[in-house]
Amino acid sequence: MCGIMGYTGSKRAATVLLDGLARLEYRGYDSAGVALLEDGTLFVRKRAGRVSELAESLAAEGFAADMGIGHTRWATHGRPTERNAHPHTDGTGSIAVVHNGIIENHEELRAKLEAVGCRFVSDTDTEVIPHLIAENLHLGIEDAVRAACAALEGAYAIAVVSEAAPDRMIAVRKGSPLVIGLGEGEQFLASSVDALLPFTRRVVYLEDGEWAVLTRDSVEIFNRDGNPVEPDVKTLDAAAADVELGPYPHYMLKEIHEQPGVVRRMSAERIRDGRPVFDEMTLPNSELAAVERVVVQACGTSWHAGLVGKYYLERLAGVHTDVEISSEFRYCDPVLDPKTLVLSISQSGETADVLEGVRLAKGRALRTLSIVNVERSSIARESHQALYMGAGVEIGVASTKAFTAEVGMLFLLALHLGRIRWRLRPEFVAEQLDAFRMLPTAMERLLSSPDDADRIAAGIKDAHSMFFIGRGPSYPIALEGALKMKEISYIHAAGYPAGELKHGPLALIEDGTPVVVVCPRDGVTAKTVSNAQEARSRGAFVIGVVQEGDDEAASVFDEVLAIPAAPEMLSPLLTVIPLQLLAYRTAVLRGCNVDKPRNLAKSVTVE
Ligand code: M6R
Repeated sequence: MCGIMGYTGSKRAATVLLDGLARLEYRGYDSAGVALLEDGTLFVRKRAGRVSELAESLAAEGFAADMGIGHTRWATHGRPTERNAHPHTDGTGSIAVVHNGIIENHEELRAKLEAVGCRFVSDTDTEVIPHLIAENLHLGIEDAVRAACAALEGAYAIAVVSEAAPDRMIAVRKGSPLVIGLGEGEQFLASSVDALLPFTRRVVYLEDGEWAVLTRDSVEIFNRDGNPVEPDVKTLDAAAADVELGPYPHYMLKEIHEQPGVVRRMSAERIRDGRPVFDEMTLPNSELAAVERVVVQACGTSWHAGLVGKYYLERLAGVHTDVEISSEFRYCDPVLDPKTLVLSISQSGETADVLEGVRLAKGRALRTLSIVNVERSSIARESHQALYMGAGVEIGVASTKAFTAEVGMLFLLALHLGRIRWRLRPEFVAEQLDAFRMLPTAMERLLSSPDDADRIAAGIKDAHSMFFIGRGPSYPIALEGALKMKEISYIHAAGYPAGELKHGPLALIEDGTPVVVVCPRDGVTAKTVSNAQEARSRGAFVIGVVQEGDDEAASVFDEVLAIPAAPEMLSPLLTVIPLQLLAYRTAVLRGCNVDKPRNLAKSVTVE
């Protein structure tokens, strides 16, 4: 979580750092701070709250520094106060450190450092780092940083500046991402390329264990043994730069509206001659065809996509599929025989628990395939094979277009597996792909008439609690609808299989409790409608997501969110959209910060 930004060059460092931090705020927004080196003297400024608040206070001071580091925090150790905000310094205030990750042995290190007279001023795990560097400063700043890191356990990305070496910034990556941006007479450092896009397209991703020394005119990279490494310079393409809000009031709304484009692009790139194509796949077909079990592991919205994927993989590819929440998977000592494929799903590609799930599978000598959005992210790089979903940059903390891209990829992958396992007739595959290609038009129609979601949101905005139910592939959509609602509107919302309501949750239904029923036309519509009636007869305000023209189903509901007709398999890609819109509109009416909901962050790099 947390965002790191660094700059050395001829511009005003404060301006560059604040711009980068604002772009990294989706990683955490509990507090923000910068350390600036001006004429050899270190100045640290920090604030609890948003980057904009820090920017206001810095504006008054007018620093001219041309080198500095900055941080936007998602609190782990210590409350989100100014005292705990980064950068943290040593006792003399001459070394400043920003950190993303967790130092697991910080208590032990702190006790040792206190015993030799170091005084701590924060509750963070990070503060041990500048003190450790100070203890070793007689070695020179670079070796002092290396010595400090040798004592640290856990995952971290850090950036360091010091009065002892005012011409250089030092960066270390162990487990948390860091990317260097190359300029002419200036260099940048950030947790993610998003922060670098306004400044440069030439970047170097630090590999795990590497550290770097950046001056205005040079970047040197070393591996964990201290040997120099030739930088592998990548050039970012224009799509990566598409992070502007445009005419939309929020990124979430922009990203909801980008979903037809995501499916259209996926169809153009991954459907050829009536079959799905994965040109980048290096796992041989013979190996994929022989898989006897797929274990999907993911978190949050990506886990919900995995649940839809189970339905596809079992129905289309005929392969037994289990879907695990990564934070459980990694600790449950799973039974995994050699013919198991571990399929990881992650928008960010950095979710700590998912990454550990990949490592666990590799440790058991299993094949690891991942569906990832952020290219060259840790999960992509550590899996045997990464398939990029191509959703484009997703900024809103509430994931929308990435969910659609994940489900789309799972659908195409299941068709691919079904083909190479000789389960599906070519004509059937071609028909399914034709239907997939039609989805963007249906999505656009849905998005062009948001009035129903607006009206219903006005009716439910004061609810204390809500339920979302569905069967089959609509069950994960119910979970996803509930997650979107609670995440951004702060209304308690729970998703259930429709048949489960009467096994407990029905006791919570009171007069007017909103129950959203995901009920497209499929083999279980009548069953789901009965469950809606059971809730309604106990006073629930029932909102149905039903297929256009399905008057019989619609007549049961107090309100209806209609979706265009689609084959049963593809309905999740449509039913999710009105639920995204409903959550969005409800959150806006409640005055919530839609793109940056409280306590959350976009990229969850701590377990
Ligand atoms: O980047 P990932 O897909 O691995 O992220 C997983 C979850 O943290 C994420 O989907 C989260 O649940 C979203 N905020 C939901 O909108």
